[in-house]
Amino acid sequence: MKIIPVFSSALCFLFFLLVTPTPDNSISTLDASTIDISNRTCRKCAEDSKTFSYDFCISSLQTIPVSHVTNLHGLAIIGMELALENATNTISTIKYLLTCGALDHFAVAALQDCLELYSDALVTIVDAAAAFLTEHYSVAEVKVSAVMEASTTCEEGFSEKKGVVSPLTEENNNLFQLSDIALCIIHMISLAAFSSMEMAIVLKFASF
Ligand SMILES: *[C@@H]1O[C@H](CO)[C@@H](O)[C@H](O)[C@H]1NC(C)=O
Ligand SMILES: *[C@@H]1O[C@H](CO)[C@@H](O)[C@H](O)[C@H]1NC(C)=O
Repeated sequence: MKIIPVFSSALCFLFFLLVTPTPDNSISTLDASTIDISNRTCRKCAEDSKTFSYDFCISSLQTIPVSHVTNLHGLAIIGMELALENATNTISTIKYLLTCGALDHFAVAALQDCLELYSDALVTIVDAAAAFLTEHYSVAEVKVSAVMEASTTCEEGFSEKKGVVSPLTEENNNLFQLSDIALCIIHMISLAAFSSMEMAIVLKFASF
């Protein structure tokens, strides 16, 4: 079975990229084709979804290091990588907020829920990347959707008590949008991967 090595290489790939600093001049060294594919992809995704932000998408994908493969597969990986990096940073933020002690019981409980949601989200993003790299696109889509849901669940936790303001609105929105980028691209790839044979079967049934 090839699944195990591919799975572990997915992990290594993600973590390697995470610990590899992005050079500050990466934007100026982006080539035209990278900008073009990012632009086209972000526009297509924004057309297909009301919650998708074109501006967020284009500014996020502009941070792609030149070393990355700039095709749709590469962009999907970058989306998941950015989500993983963001969620990791947010966990630090939550831990910091929990130790600063100025919050009431309700906010502390909500933050603790978020900490759990974000910790699970890290695992889910890595699982999504592994599923994506082994071409289990629908599994990857379900996982990435779960990450988006985690961000909204975290945000909603703070709205249950009047007068409480979420300290994580921006972080939750970032994770939501980054996951949405990955989800949209994985979906595009999965549609393209829908083989002509499967299509023939579907058409056959559809004609009954
Ligand atoms: C994206 O494409 C649109 C339409 O082709 C163009 O007007 C815009 O300048 C492009 N943006 C970037 C960042 O390349
Ligand atoms: C999260 O991602 C967004 C979009 O790429 C970026 O602007 C922001 O700096 C990131 N935040 C953290 C804490 O990593």
